[in-house]
Amino acid sequence: MKIGTLRQLLVLQLDSLLASERHARDTFPNLAKAASAPDLSESMQEQAATAREHVIRLDHVLERLAPPARPGAPALRSATESPTSQALLRQCADLAENTEVDPHVRDAALAALASHVLHHELAGYASARSWAKLIGDDETARTLGRSLDDEHAAARRLAEVAAEVDRLAAIDLLKA
Ligand SMILES: [Fe+2]
Repeated sequence: MKIGTLRQLLVLQLDSLLASERHARDTFPNLAKAASAPDLSESMQEQAATAREHVIRLDHVLERLAPPARPGAPALRSATESPTSQALLRQCADLAENTEVDPHVRDAALAALASHVLHHELAGYASARSWAKLIGDDETARTLGRSLDDEHAAARRLAEVAAEVDRLAAIDLLKA
């Protein structure tokens, strides 16, 4: 699809965020099970729950901005994938399945990858909210602002958990 307007760019960005949130929603419950630190596991569960809400919000916004095209009408949305979040979450899943990694080191790696996913989404929501404001779509800007706030809060909580998880991994390193 040719991107001719900021509105079309916004739709593509929201489509990409939707793909990322769906991956997060489906992957984080397994990561929560793989994490050995209870706080990290809880943080992963929270991220899965938040992603479920964000998918619903994005579905509503996209339904309004770019309803599915009628047969024969040009499609505004393309089936966008989110290769970045897909690659990050694939790495998380591989780590979760790897039983040879020290549990504390695995937790440190999982926390780092989860932080990448969160910051990737943060950047996406920040751009999308700016574009929604610029095209005068205040309702979409407000909705995206709520998800952006959720991502900021989750990133702050995860940073605290990661600091503790990293400390435990460093203690293992000193013992080795
Ligand atoms: Fe999210």
